[in-house]
Amino acid sequence: MGSGEATTIQDQAPRLLAHIAGYASHRTIAMGLRAGLIEALAGAEEGASSDELAEQLDLDPYYVDVWCRSALGAELCHREGDRYVLAPHMDTLLLDPSSPAYVGGVFLVYEQREMFDRFEQVFGSGERLWWDETSPEWIAGVSGTGRPFYTRLIPGGLSQVPGLDEQLADGGRIVDTACGAGHGLLRLAEHYPECELVGVDGDAYSIQLAEKRLSEAGIADRVELHVRPLEDLDLDDPATVIVNNISMHECRDIDRATRQIHDALEPGGWFVVSDFPYPDTDEGLASVPGRIMTGIQFFEAQIDDQLLPRSAYDDLLTRHGFTELGSAELTPVHALTWGRRP
Ligand SMILES: C[S@@+](CC[C@H](N)C(=O)[O-])C[C@H]1O[C@@H](n2cnc3c(N)ncnc32)[C@H](O)[C@@H]1O
Repeated sequence: MGSGEATTIQDQAPRLLAHIAGYASHRTIAMGLRAGLIEALAGAEEGASSDELAEQLDLDPYYVDVWCRSALGAELCHREGDRYVLAPHMDTLLLDPSSPAYVGGVFLVYEQREMFDRFEQVFGSGERLWWDETSPEWIAGVSGTGRPFYTRLIPGGLSQVPGLDEQLADGGRIVDTACGAGHGLLRLAEHYPECELVGVDGDAYSIQLAEKRLSEAGIADRVELHVRPLEDLDLDDPATVIVNNISMHECRDIDRATRQIHDALEPGGWFVVSDFPYPDTDEGLASVPGRIMTGIQFFEAQIDDQLLPRSAYDDLLTRHGFTELGSAELTPVHALTWGRRP
């Protein structure tokens, strides 16, 4: 628009209407995931009519018809005659937690109480919370959304760190700091069979989940687990590499935690931070990835932290004497920053 032209109501209204439309599509997808509608569509190669979906899932036919048309509007599916056919790759994106492209979990996490509802309830008091006060469903949801971050990090992201693949092929000690429910440890064990593994998290319930996951996979004896804050990491044996997945921004004292991480590495060992690259410009905040991250920040604020721009990790690692810094953008909401202990 030229500088002399005034912005009109007609210019501005579509911005708001797009948000309402996005909300309707979001609710449609989350509901479709919970009710099994998207899974049923994924299983129907020739597509399915809304009546067939209703019968299969024991849902009300009229309501399913309403859902199907909204799913069509959301470009989740298209119609062939009276049959709804899931759009390409939606099954992977929404239903496959093992895919690096999985985003289905984010829809569900966004609708949990801890995300926006609790924030609004305590808007006045600003009452904070910690992980041990969140629900098991929340921990499960977060670990589901963290999983594709681990899938991209291990081994693809780590292989971008110079020489690390070769180092780990011969064995070594890998520490997952803030390991949560253990998806990362499981993947590390699978991809670096010669390495010893350590998982540390400040939340006892998450460590219990990790323990269970690792036992079920039959690899509990390869992994040492600790419930402790990263600010008091204090590990006995030096690590070849320390990773942190979508958690570094949560440290109560990020400098103290980084000092501990530095000291826990062997000389030449690497620290790899895998995190959301929070936008540091107004344009970035207004972008689609930026808006998703501003959404996530509603939870982060409640546990008293702030997502950080990727460059903040360059400053952090430099401040603590790390060298050979590098970085990579894995997706618009996922970046790595690494540095080496001299
Ligand atoms: C967003 S979750 C991510 C968990 C896991 N890395 C994943 O991607 O699934 C953040 C985790 O960091 C842990 N955490 C946050 N701050 C911590 C700290 N200062 N010390 C230890 N653990 C911490 C929490 O308990 C929680 O399990």
